[in-house]
Amino acid sequence: MASARTRDHLIESIGTSPIPMVASNPLHPDNPLEIVNPAFCQLTGYTEREILGRNCRFLTGEGTEPWLTEQIREAVRQRRSTLVDILNYRSDGSPFRNGVLVAPLFDDEGQVQWFLGSQVELGAPDTPDLAARRHRANQVIATLPPRQLQVLALMAKGLLNKQIAWQLKIAEKTVKMHRGLLLQKLGVATSAEAIRLAAEAGI
Ligand SMILES: Cc1cc2nc3c(=O)[nH]c(=O)nc-3n(C[C@H](O)[C@H](O)[C@H](O)COP(=O)(O)O)c2cc1C
Repeated sequence: MASARTRDHLIESIGTSPIPMVASNPLHPDNPLEIVNPAFCQLTGYTEREILGRNCRFLTGEGTEPWLTEQIREAVRQRRSTLVDILNYRSDGSPFRNGVLVAPLFDDEGQVQWFLGSQVELGAPDTPDLAARRHRANQVIATLPPRQLQVLALMAKGLLNKQIAWQLKIAEKTVKMHRGLLLQKLGVATSAEAIRLAAEAGI
């Protein structure tokens, strides 16, 4: 599938991000991690080797709020995105508040192909909480012209250019152009980061 969201493309998008990010493969039993970036390993203290092939539940522990885990589980089941502020644990057992986004990414045929996970440590020095992040995300997203906002909203739903073009009844290359422009406007390098911003803004 030439235009599907290929592994290489996703590795590039996630790998270069300064924000901790992972991707899991829901087509394999127990939705194992297949891509993790260096920022995620730095945040959690795990090496890539230790966590590839495992479900991301290794971050949970004794103090993790079960109702928030349930919220993530339910979103994964329903193939929609969710953003929660949950207590997680690093590999050395130390706790941290994780503002985690979990979002489905669909292929050309509308089947879920990956789940994107994006983790941000909340409460660390110089790290705004989710309310402050929402405010900031809303401010920057408010600068987008209407068409770019529509494209962002559909990207945030996990759609690829082809599906976005179909929904907005515009050419795929026009979607690509809008995608490039909106990344610039939002000041992010990758679509994955734009999806995170959209989720923070509540889109
Ligand atoms: C891509 C992805 C990333 C996830 N990231 C986190 C995370 O950072 N923290 C967390 O507590 N759960 C995260 N989860 C949820 C866990 O993987 C798991 O679904 C949840 O803890 C429920 O576990 P259970 O299946 O044992 O009930 C993530 C799930 C996915 C699919």
